[in-house]
Amino acid sequence: MEIVATLGQMQFWREAWRRSEKTVALVPTMGALHAGHLALVTEAAEIADKVVVSIFVNPLQFGPSEDFSRYPRDLALDMEKLAQLGKTEVIFNPSVEVMYPGGTSLTTVTVAEMSQVLCGRIRPTHFAGVTTVVTKLLHIIQPDVAVFGQKDAQQLAIIRQLVHDLNFPVKVVGVATVRESSGLALSSRNRYLSPEQKEKASYLYRGLKSAEILFRNGERRAEVLAAQVKKTLAQAELCAEYVECVDFESLRQVEIIERPVTLALAAYVGPARLIDNITLDPGH
Ligand code: PAJ
Repeated sequence: MEIVATLGQMQFWREAWRRSEKTVALVPTMGALHAGHLALVTEAAEIADKVVVSIFVNPLQFGPSEDFSRYPRDLALDMEKLAQLGKTEVIFNPSVEVMYPGGTSLTTVTVAEMSQVLCGRIRPTHFAGVTTVVTKLLHIIQPDVAVFGQKDAQQLAIIRQLVHDLNFPVKVVGVATVRESSGLALSSRNRYLSPEQKEKASYLYRGLKSAEILFRNGERRAEVLAAQVKKTLAQAELCAEYVECVDFESLRQVEIIERPVTLALAAYVGPARLIDNITLDPGH
C-alpha cells in the first residue's frame, strides 16, 4: 500500500495502471475510517483491479460555523485499518495546498436544485464543495468506477447527476449503509456522542423503520410517513431538522409514493448533526 500526497505521484500510478490495462476504483473519503468506509473499499475491490482511497478533509464543503477544524483526523489509524483490510493499492492523501493552491478554487462545480433541498437548505454551500472536490478527484485519479455510500443519499444522487451532466467516463456505484446493532448508521461524527446520546441516536433509524412498516402495509402518503418518523423521534425527545420523502433520483419532493423514494432525515443529537435515510420502493 502506497501513500501518495502529490498530483505527480498519483498520475505516475494512474499511468502505470493504464499501461498494464488495470481497472481502477476510487473511494473518496475524509478519513476517520469506520466499517462503513471499509465496506465501500471491499465493494471497490470486487469491481476493479486497483483501489485508490482518497483521504482529504475538504475545507470547501464545511460552512463557516461547522466542524472543519475539529473534524477527526487520524491518518496513522486509517492506514492501519486499510492495511489490515488488504484491498487498497494507493491512499491519496493530498494537503489542502495541493488541492487548493493559494487556499481557494475560483472555479466551482454546482449541481443546481438538488444541492438546495434537504441538507442543502441548512448547508447552502456544502454540496458545491462536495461536487467541486469530487470533480477534481475524478480528474486527478481518472477511475473507471467511483464508490459512494447510500448513507449520504443526497450526495450520491447529486454525484450521479454530476457524472451524467458533465459526461464523466466513470461508473458510480452506491453501497448500502452499514449500521451498528442498534440500527445507528456508522458515521465519523458518532464519536461526538456520549453513550446516552448514542442510545437516543438509534431512534433515527427506528423512526425510519416504523414508517417503513406503514409503507409495507400500503400507506403511500408521504406526509403520514413523515409524521410517523417524527412521532418515534419524539419518544427520544428528538426534533428533526427535516423528515422528507423525495424522488430517489431527482430529489424532488413527493406527496404520493408511486416510484422509488428516499425517506430522509436530519436531526441534532446533542452536539452532532446526524443524517439517515431508507429507500421505499412501491415495486418491491
Ligand atoms: P465521508 O463522510 O468520509 O464518507 C466517505 C464515503 O463513505 C461516502 O460515500 C459516504 O456515503 C460513505 N459512508 C459513510 N458512512 C457510511 C456508512 N455507515 N455505510 C456506508 N457508507 C458510508 O462523504 C464524504 O466523506 C465527503 O463528502 C466526500 C465524498 C469524500 C467528498 O469530500
